[in-house]
Amino acid sequence: MKNVYSKAEAARTYDRARKLPAGTKTLWLDAIKSSLPPQKVGKILDLGCGTGRFTSALGETFQCPVIGVEPSAAMLEIAIARNEPNVEWKQGQAESLPLEAETVDLIFMSQVFHHLVEPERALLEIHRVLRPAGFLVIRNGMREHNRELAWLGCFPEAREIEDRRTPSSQELEELVCAKSFTLLSHRVINQLFASSFTEYFEKISGRGLSALLAISDESFQSGLERFRDWVNAQPKDAPVYEPMDLFIFQKKK
Ligand SMILES: C[S@@+](CC[C@H](N)C(=O)[O-])C[C@H]1O[C@@H](n2cnc3c(N)ncnc32)[C@H](O)[C@@H]1O
Repeated sequence: MKNVYSKAEAARTYDRARKLPAGTKTLWLDAIKSSLPPQKVGKILDLGCGTGRFTSALGETFQCPVIGVEPSAAMLEIAIARNEPNVEWKQGQAESLPLEAETVDLIFMSQVFHHLVEPERALLEIHRVLRPAGFLVIRNGMREHNRELAWLGCFPEAREIEDRRTPSSQELEELVCAKSFTLLSHRVINQLFASSFTEYFEKISGRGLSALLAISDESFQSGLERFRDWVNAQPKDAPVYEPMDLFIFQKKK
């Protein structure tokens, strides 16, 4: 499927529609740091960094420089405009990384894996640029959780896309381990996605999720009506949590 994030409009609306509630970013960074064995992390690659939601925060967490690599010029432009220290930005994609062999200690991929057209080729590249015993950290929704996402249940065409392109945990583990990695840990994090159902509706109607960008405007509008009806039947101020998986792999020496 074409990369929907190459469109300027998608890049412009991304940060608003995908804003992480206060605390959610810290929750992830803490979870990553505490899951790693004590080993020096001297350089990080945020692969498919998008608008840079996590990029500089990764550097702060590990006190090291970060490289953000992103194929979409429109997304990268927004990331660069953040003007953050300690980050180097490069245009490129996972299947042919613009980096020398064995130059990074940790590769972070947040909600990127299901976009890869050639995941096996990308894994060979990831293996190439990681130093021996380096880490591959994957933050991604897994197919088995799709039915738990209330919004997705209201958009059948988007659900079809997600079910087709999202791996199951087992498939992901097998795919990555086949390319000379060991799985160190896997956990499901129930993250705060919106602080109220009103905010949940606003985020989904912002159409920042790629499956919603990929369906027709008519399908999006009719799904949004179903979603509005569903949200109206929920307690307004209750927080909304959604599951997302965290995998830590280590490159075999
Ligand atoms: C849902 S966004 C996630 C962005 C960022 N990681 C975050 O969590 O905010 C998915 C990103 O993956 C990028 N992407 C798509 N195909 C890619 C590929 N083959 N290699 C690297 N990144 C890719 C898209 O351009 C987009 O910026």
